[in-house]
Amino acid sequence: TVSFRLGIAGLGTVGASVVRMVERRRAAFTAAGLDLRVTAVSSRDRTRDRGLDLAGIEWFDDPVALARSGSVDCVVELIGGAEGPAKAVVEAALDAGKPVVTANKALLARHGAALATRAEDKGVALAFEAAVAGGIPVIKTLREGLPGNTISRVYGILNGTCNYILSRMEREGLTFEACLKDAQALGYAEADPTFDVEGFDTAHKLAILTSLAFGTAVDAEGVSVEGISRVQPLDLRMADELGYRIKLLGVAQAAEAGIEQRVHPTMVPKSSAIAQVMGVTNAVTIDADAVGELTLIGPGAGGEATASAVVADIADVARGVIRPTFGIPAVAMRPSERVEMQRH
Ligand code: HSE
Repeated sequence: TVSFRLGIAGLGTVGASVVRMVERRRAAFTAAGLDLRVTAVSSRDRTRDRGLDLAGIEWFDDPVALARSGSVDCVVELIGGAEGPAKAVVEAALDAGKPVVTANKALLARHGAALATRAEDKGVALAFEAAVAGGIPVIKTLREGLPGNTISRVYGILNGTCNYILSRMEREGLTFEACLKDAQALGYAEADPTFDVEGFDTAHKLAILTSLAFGTAVDAEGVSVEGISRVQPLDLRMADELGYRIKLLGVAQAAEAGIEQRVHPTMVPKSSAIAQVMGVTNAVTIDADAVGELTLIGPGAGGEATASAVVADIADVARGVIRPTFGIPAVAMRPSERVEMQRH
């Protein structure tokens, strides 16, 4: 049996679900030869009632101290944000030679290449299934499922909050503001919901998918971005009359000059598969030469669904499935010709 002690940095919606899930699935993991245990947690507010039994689990006020603690084998970063404590925790863990599981798309979009290099130098895993499309195993699919394919396009609905807002505005005629409030109450939205509604969160996730699909460096700056904050109920009604729905799509495709990456509200025919995707659900379509078109659909946000992806990574890391971070030769993680060409 492999014993694996987990330190969870960040006890928000996802963090709390991870703590519960590891406990709930203990018997199944034990049967598979894995003794997974949460031994340490850290969060900003120690007094908040999360409905968690933290008896016997060490509490850290400082997440970096948790990352360095001798009682933690693997650090699970669920703090969020591209800089600050999240980045410090991930760097401290990797520097200490510990594998990291993170759901932090903003961090990876901005510092993915540098962190990947750091992880590889130390020979430890940096796993991030939960960073893109919540519970959908799209990272695994891109990294492990398609080695015989050349991918020409990846696109989809990558932000649950936006899809939830657009769906409810369309179906119930509610205002943008009311829908956003509900998305926040349900734990779908980012701490700063501007990231959701202005398209940046979609851009971060798209940049990660692009890197895996095309073997290029993560380049979030190279994504052209427009969000949904200016979409009016009237726009949705007009689209409806014409036989369309409006979806916020992230699209990455191979073009002559390089890889084109864009995020914007898009009219999709109501009869199309992607138009059927409503609510907090995400969808990712991969166009690949051998397998053809592949679409994965599932919950894109929320504590349990996202924790499902985090726990999948934890299990992989515990089993010692240490993969090159972006699933491609290390050299391809550095700026490639394709990305350079795109910038010119
Ligand atoms: N705010 C994100 C969303 C959470 O709504 O999709 C999942 O990354």
